Amino acid sequence: MDIKRRLIIYNTLTIIIPLIITAITAFILTFVSSEFLGKTIGYNNFKKVTFINSELLNMTKDIAKSDNKSIEDEHFKSYLESKLAITQGKIIINKNGIVLYSSKDINNISLENTLQQSRDKSRDPIFINDTYYSISSFPIEFKDKSTGNVIFLTPIGKDSGFFKRFIIYVLIAFFASYTLVSIIVSYALSKKILLPISLLKKAADEIKNGNLDSEIVESGDKEIRELCSNFEEMRIKLKDSIHMKTKYDDNRKMLVSSISHDLKTPLTSIEGYVQGILDGVANSPEKLEHYLKTINVKTKQMDSMINDLLLYSKLDLGQIPFNFEKTDIDEYFSYCVEESYVILKHSNIDIKLENHLDNSKYFLIDRERFRRVILNILDNSRKYMNKDRGEITIFIRENNLSIIIEIRDNGSGIDEENTNKIFDRFYRSDSARSNAKGSGLGLAIAKQIVEGHKGKIWANSHKDQGTSIIISLAKI
Ligand SMILES: Nc1ncnc2c1ncn2[C@@H]1O[C@H](COP(=O)(O)OP(=O)(O)O)[C@@H](O)[C@H]1O
Ligand SMILES: [Mg+2]
Repeated sequence: MDIKRRLIIYNTLTIIIPLIITAITAFILTFVSSEFLGKTIGYNNFKKVTFINSELLNMTKDIAKSDNKSIEDEHFKSYLESKLAITQGKIIINKNGIVLYSSKDINNISLENTLQQSRDKSRDPIFINDTYYSISSFPIEFKDKSTGNVIFLTPIGKDSGFFKRFIIYVLIAFFASYTLVSIIVSYALSKKILLPISLLKKAADEIKNGNLDSEIVESGDKEIRELCSNFEEMRIKLKDSIHMKTKYDDNRKMLVSSISHDLKTPLTSIEGYVQGILDGVANSPEKLEHYLKTINVKTKQMDSMINDLLLYSKLDLGQIPFNFEKTDIDEYFSYCVEESYVILKHSNIDIKLENHLDNSKYFLIDRERFRRVILNILDNSRKYMNKDRGEITIFIRENNLSIIIEIRDNGSGIDEENTNKIFDRFYRSDSARSNAKGSGLGLAIAKQIVEGHKGKIWANSHKDQGTSIIISLAKI
């Protein structure tokens, strides 16, 4: 729901619910009073009493304008009586403590009682001729400046007071329910709007304090949910950029440290040989040739090391785009085997391909990069071969979801506990290190490229009997 709609609904509820409660209260009151108390709400009665009171007030004004004579005047008396006939009220006019006029049907006893009650300022109704009357007395000043008072007797139905109380109860019901509903609605509103905002504020504080890990959960109304999701997006981007920066820093450190460390060894030997030549140690053409050849080998070693470093660094930073192509699996590996056949044969190693694919024929790879993976693995098999007759087999299999490529050799194998570590950058087993043939980046590069293909790479060691490097790639 959006905030605007919620506000409209809540505001409407704030009015409608109290009205409904008030209506129900009124209904219950009417029902209870008529069913159990035998009283009617008596609106008509109430109206009548109000009407009578206003009529009597008018009469007071008329009386105040008149003098004794006119009050005793038959004409005026009949005017009063005609008015009283409409209202069914009664009147007593006192002047200087003497009753100047009283309605005809008030007998002497009732008259005395009324006067007494009026003097006592009693508010009790008086009972005359089967009817209750309320007494109200108004002081007046006659034209001759003498004072007196007019006493009105207003007939009250026995339930007229009940209507007043009914109105009061209904009003109380309305205001009480209005207050209650307002409180509930405000609470609900604050829960739906303010609570998510306060959560967002908390998250913003976290980010301000450098904690970019606390996820912002979407909650509340549409606008606030959108705000939350934008905020979350911002958090992720910020986190990524910080992560990227750390990665760049790491990468830079890695390059500097490896250049200074790993390139130092071949550089030192080149320096040594060059110095030897300069000092005239290579004093025969054979020696000179040997020195120069060594320098050439070392230079090539450095070159390939630097290439590895740069490639790894670029892959690590995601700077190398992959160009995926649908490729015939068998054709591709046949070519790889063919390509490395001669070099391997030179080291007395045989290579063969075993294709166990049933259904799949193609996979999606970046041919150039994937070739690099295979070459790195084959190069290791060659480097770490310790048998007179080396054997490398590339098995290709498939399961439900993946194409599995296993490159198995019969070389030295890897210690069981190191099978995971060999994919770390710069990892070299001690024996390999002593040979110092590689950069220690070959498998790290292979892993980066395979992961760039959304695949997995791992190693199985067959201690002393060889190593399997296994790659799984999703089928297409
Ligand atoms: N086929 C293999 N047989 C034995 N050891 C291997 C094999 N492949 C990799 N290794 C071990 O894993 C280490 C890491 O390999 P790699 O990342 O290619 O680095 P590098 O070849 O430059 O030493 C190697 O130094 C070696 O100890
Ligand atoms: Mg290697």
